[in-house]
Amino acid sequence: MRRFAIVGHRARTSGDFSLNDLPGGAGRMDVLCRCVNTAFFLSHDLRKDVECYLVLLGDPAPPKTVRFSGVHLRSLNPDERSAAALLKKALALPCGDEFRESSPGVAVRQGGLARLIEDMPLALLHEEGDDLRNVHPLPSGYLLSDHLNFTPEEEAVVQDMPRISVGPVSLHADHAITVVQNELDRRQHGWN
Ligand SMILES: C[S@@+](CC[C@H](N)C(=O)[O-])C[C@H]1O[C@@H](n2cnc3c(N)ncnc32)[C@H](O)[C@@H]1O
Repeated sequence: MRRFAIVGHRARTSGDFSLNDLPGGAGRMDVLCRCVNTAFFLSHDLRKDVECYLVLLGDPAPPKTVRFSGVHLRSLNPDERSAAALLKKALALPCGDEFRESSPGVAVRQGGLARLIEDMPLALLHEEGDDLRNVHPLPSGYLLSDHLNFTPEEEAVVQDMPRISVGPVSLHADHAITVVQNELDRRQHGWN
């Protein structure tokens, strides 16, 4: 199973945002939707062996975590509004400490980064980490930030994670996911 978790520092935590204003009123939900799409979509297929976690920290009820599970996902199309519509539905659902399904393959719970890293091992994708190409074997789970850097409080939570870099320049989060997926694909198919 491949896992990607992305922290959305300003992402709205209720379903009241407009699909027409994902970058503004929804708190850069467009960035997170692109990450979801990049984690799952192949040219004409959807990766079943992927889970994508969005840690949402914006108003009005942070933190919340939304989980997308490839094996059960339905109704996800490769455009930002499609992922955002699934998120809107998830965030409209009252939730507690355990994941609650809002649509096939999509579930939401109350809780943030500290809880998530208790649940699963993750490596930090970071510009100053070890070169992905020199890491053997590669981890199966990765944590990224959205368009903002991690806060000092978050840095404290992630300080013991292995740090892996996909290259010398800072990329958009969804592009960094593409590079990781490509390297995992290459190794899985014996291309190295
Ligand atoms: C747009 S960047 C975050 C902000 C960026 N640190 C800055 O200074 O503007 C989004 C995320 O993509 C990942 N990322 C971007 N470039 C990367 C790289 N070269 N290696 C590993 N991860 C990278 C990191 O997880 C980062 O937090």
